[in-house]
Amino acid sequence: MKDDTKTMEGRETATLIVGGKTIELPVITGSEGEKGIDISSLRNKTGYITFDPGFANTGACRSAITFMDGEQGILRYRGIPVEELAEKSTFVETSYLLINGHLPSSQELNGFSVLLNDHSLVHEDMRTFFSNYPREAHPMGILSSMVNALRSFYPRLEGLSRVEELNVQVTRLLSKMRTMAAMSYKISLGHMVVYPRQDLSYCANFLNMMFNTPVKPYALDDDLIRALNVFWILHADHEQNCSTSAVRLVGSARVNLYAAISAGITALWGPLHGGANQAVIEMLEKIQINGGDFEPFIARAKDRNDPFRLMGFGHRVYKTYDPRALIMKKVCDIVLAKLNRKDPLLDIAMRLEEVALKDPYFVDHNLYPNVDFYSGIVLRALGIPTNMFTVMFAIGRLPGWIAQWKEDHDDPNWKLVRPRQIYTGPEQTHYVPIEKRG
Ligand code: SDX
Repeated sequence: MKDDTKTMEGRETATLIVGGKTIELPVITGSEGEKGIDISSLRNKTGYITFDPGFANTGACRSAITFMDGEQGILRYRGIPVEELAEKSTFVETSYLLINGHLPSSQELNGFSVLLNDHSLVHEDMRTFFSNYPREAHPMGILSSMVNALRSFYPRLEGLSRVEELNVQVTRLLSKMRTMAAMSYKISLGHMVVYPRQDLSYCANFLNMMFNTPVKPYALDDDLIRALNVFWILHADHEQNCSTSAVRLVGSARVNLYAAISAGITALWGPLHGGANQAVIEMLEKIQINGGDFEPFIARAKDRNDPFRLMGFGHRVYKTYDPRALIMKKVCDIVLAKLNRKDPLLDIAMRLEEVALKDPYFVDHNLYPNVDFYSGIVLRALGIPTNMFTVMFAIGRLPGWIAQWKEDHDDPNWKLVRPRQIYTGPEQTHYVPIEKRG
């Protein structure tokens, strides 16, 4: 990040003329050349605030974690292209990179993996928590409350330095959230919970905990384990998206990490955000029931009077193909070929994409497939139930949420997030006793 104090010394500024005043506002330049007008003095100097619903034009923070270029379809974690990480890294190594800012040495990676293993079990008293949920409860609601409950089961660690305690909290969360997701699934089936194994990798452990049973051992497959690593690498961070912004906002009140992450899980649940991967499959299944005819769905998506959106299409930042969707599509082919399986929903998705990308509405609105459009096909092939798709997104996004929360906590210029508003309610009026009301 360039030192923007030089910007103030005669470097680039923005001139604003408003309310009969002319003020100079500093321009901040990011390390990839993106520019922002620093309006932190605006209200003091002019009495005015800015207005930007959805914050589409507002930078909430400086961050050195993830770079996205929505026009070019670029995504980099700590400067490394996501394509390289998907090809060469593992989810655990990428998690370390995002949280600590550099690729780990073999010693650092080994220490991180040992901590993840040490913290992979879940407090036995938490199982009664799970077993008292209704069987049909949505796993995202369970996950959000279980992560929040971690604070109660794992209170502050006395006698450790802040860094040591944070390392334990981080690895505890990364490891236990994966275990809790599998536990929740087994309990929802009325099956015996499968414990993590010391001899398995992070991703292999998850698949084994999900699908192994005493009477039918789950056959671990290296290609499927690799596919899960890539799936989670692709989801690991995405700068200031809705759920990450929720983590930063809640975290700005200096609440504990688990509570802030619980807020992120809740935000991700929404069908416009992480919940879209489940909504895509449900949409493709409806098209399949409709004989594979997706024209009515495209027509509804284009109808401004219809709130229906083509799920898995469009993005606030990407105005070209989501680079993650390109990779996810290849993972679909690899997993289905390995399982020697065809998925009719993949054929529908590819035909739908082909038609939509030629349709002037989608072209004019820069609507392309996003990460969620193909991710559900991969998850179906792995045997993940549809109502757990967003849980899979959450496990992938967890290292990014943690990295962003940590960056905010380490920021010496940290501020409590508290936006202003433009009031549109009634002018001053007075209380009317009930006997005098209409
Ligand atoms: C994720 O932010 C992130 O980085 C998120 C994410 C991450 O990794 O964290 O990438 C993960 O959430 C991906 C997005 C998953 N959601 C979906 O697939 C749901 C379907 N997509 C849309 O709801 C929408 O595209 C959003 C919510 C993703 C983005 O919408 P914006 O930026 O708020 O834009 P908008 O809703 O104001 O739409 C702009 C125009 C509108 O038309 P006009 O009124 O201007 O004529 O585009 C149209 C919209 O109607 N539009 C769509 C559409 N998406 C936008 N029309 C039909 N189908 C769609 N999917």
